[in-house]
Amino acid sequence: MSIDRREFQHRRQQVMEKIGHGTAIFRSAPMAVMHNDVEYTYRQDSDFFYLTGFNEPDAVAILAPHHPEHQFILFVQPKDPEKETWTGYLHGVEGAKEIFAADEAYSIEELEEKLPQYLEKAERIYYHLGRDKTFNTNVLNHWQKLIATFPRRGTGPTALEDTNFILHPLRLLKTAAELDNIRKATAISAQAHNRAREFTKVGHYEYQIQAEIEHTFRLEGGMGPAYPSIVASGANACILHYINNNRQVQENELLLIDAGCAYNYYNGDITRTFPVNGKFTPEQKIIYEIVLEAQLKAIEVVKTGHPYNLFHDTAVRTIVEGLVDLGLLVGPIDEIIKEEKYKPFYMHRTGHWLGLDVHDAGGYKVNEETWQTLQPGHVLTVEPGIYISPDIKPAEGQPEVPEKWRGIGIRIEDDVLVTATGNEVLTATVPKKVEDIES
Ligand code: GLY
Ligand code: MN
Ligand code: MN
Repeated sequence: MSIDRREFQHRRQQVMEKIGHGTAIFRSAPMAVMHNDVEYTYRQDSDFFYLTGFNEPDAVAILAPHHPEHQFILFVQPKDPEKETWTGYLHGVEGAKEIFAADEAYSIEELEEKLPQYLEKAERIYYHLGRDKTFNTNVLNHWQKLIATFPRRGTGPTALEDTNFILHPLRLLKTAAELDNIRKATAISAQAHNRAREFTKVGHYEYQIQAEIEHTFRLEGGMGPAYPSIVASGANACILHYINNNRQVQENELLLIDAGCAYNYYNGDITRTFPVNGKFTPEQKIIYEIVLEAQLKAIEVVKTGHPYNLFHDTAVRTIVEGLVDLGLLVGPIDEIIKEEKYKPFYMHRTGHWLGLDVHDAGGYKVNEETWQTLQPGHVLTVEPGIYISPDIKPAEGQPEVPEKWRGIGIRIEDDVLVTATGNEVLTATVPKKVEDIES
C-alpha cells in the first residue's frame, strides 16, 4: 500500500503553488542513538516523508518553484558500497532522481556549495526550525550571508517563514491513498487489541500482554508500535502515559490498553479498558458506563460542519453529569465545567488529529476564537476517560472521594474519519459495550 510517486509529486506541486517565489528547505529526521554505537530503527520526519517518500537520514529536500531548471532538489547520502555492507542499501544521488523524481540531486556533502544557488533569487525562505540544531544554524547562516549581500545583488530572501503553515493544512485532509494506509494501521491495531483481550488473564504480567499486541503489529506487516504501548492494570491506569508495563495483573482489576500500530508511516491509536476476569465490579461498571456514554455522545457530534471542539465539550459535559449523579462532584453543571472542577478526574483533551504523526499536524483553531470546522477527510481520535487515582485531590470546594472509587482508571479511544454524511469509526471491530467485554 505504498503511496504512488505521482501523489508525492502532487503534494510538492501544492506546496510550490503556495510558496511562489520562495524556496522551501526540509531536513530529514536525525538518527537517534539507543546506546553507544547502536541506533534506533530510523523513522523519517513526517513532513519530509509527506513530500518525498524518502526514508534515509542525512538528507535535505528543496522546493524552488521559481528556479529556471530545478524545482525539486534532493541532497542525499552518496552510494558507498562499504557502508552499505554494514547498514544497508542507499538510494544515492541517481536513485534520488530516478526513484524519487528529483529534478536534480547531489551528495549531502555538496550542500554548502550548492544551496545558495536555490536561495539567492528567492523572495523568502520557508523552513521549520527542527530537531537538528546544527542544521538550523546552517540555514540561518545562509540567510544572514544573503541578507549581507542583498544590496549588491538586488535579490534574496527578506523573510523566513515556517513551513508548518504551508504544509500542515494539506496534511490535515487525508487523500484516498492516505486513508487506505490509515485503514490498514487501524485494522491491525484493532486485531491486536482483540487478541490481547482474549489472552489476558489474572496472573499475567502487563508486559506479556504487550508482547501479544506487538506480535500482531509485526505479524500483520506493521512497522511496530506507533507509540510506546500502555498496558496498565489496576491503579496504573490512572497514570496517563504509564509504559513500565511490569506489574502482575490481579483479580477484580481493570486493564487499560492504549496501543496502536504504525503501518507504512500511518498510525492507529486505540484504547480499551476491560475487566481482567471478565466481570466488572459494581463501581467499575458505573464509571465505565459514564465514559462509554461520553465517548458515544462525542462520536455522534463528529460531523462535517461542526466546530472541532464540540466533541470535547460534549464528552466533558457527559462526564460531569455522571460524576455529579454519583456525588463525586457537587454544584451546578455549568459552573463545574466553567471552573474546570472536573479536572482531577479528567485532565486531558478528548482527542487529536491522527495521521503520519499520532498527534498529527494541523491546527485545532483557525484564530483565537474559532475552532477548525470538521470536514470530510479529517481523521481524529475520540478518547474520553475518568481517572480516580488512589491519592486523588478534589478541586477546591469539592468532596473527598470515598475509598471504594479509588484506583479506577478508564479510557475508551477510537479513531474516527469525518465523512460527507457523518463519520466512520475505523476501529469499531474492538468491542466496548459492557455485555460484549464481560464473559
Ligand atoms: N496514545 C497516545 C494518545 O492516546 O494520545
Ligand atoms: Mn490518542
Ligand atoms: Mn492512545
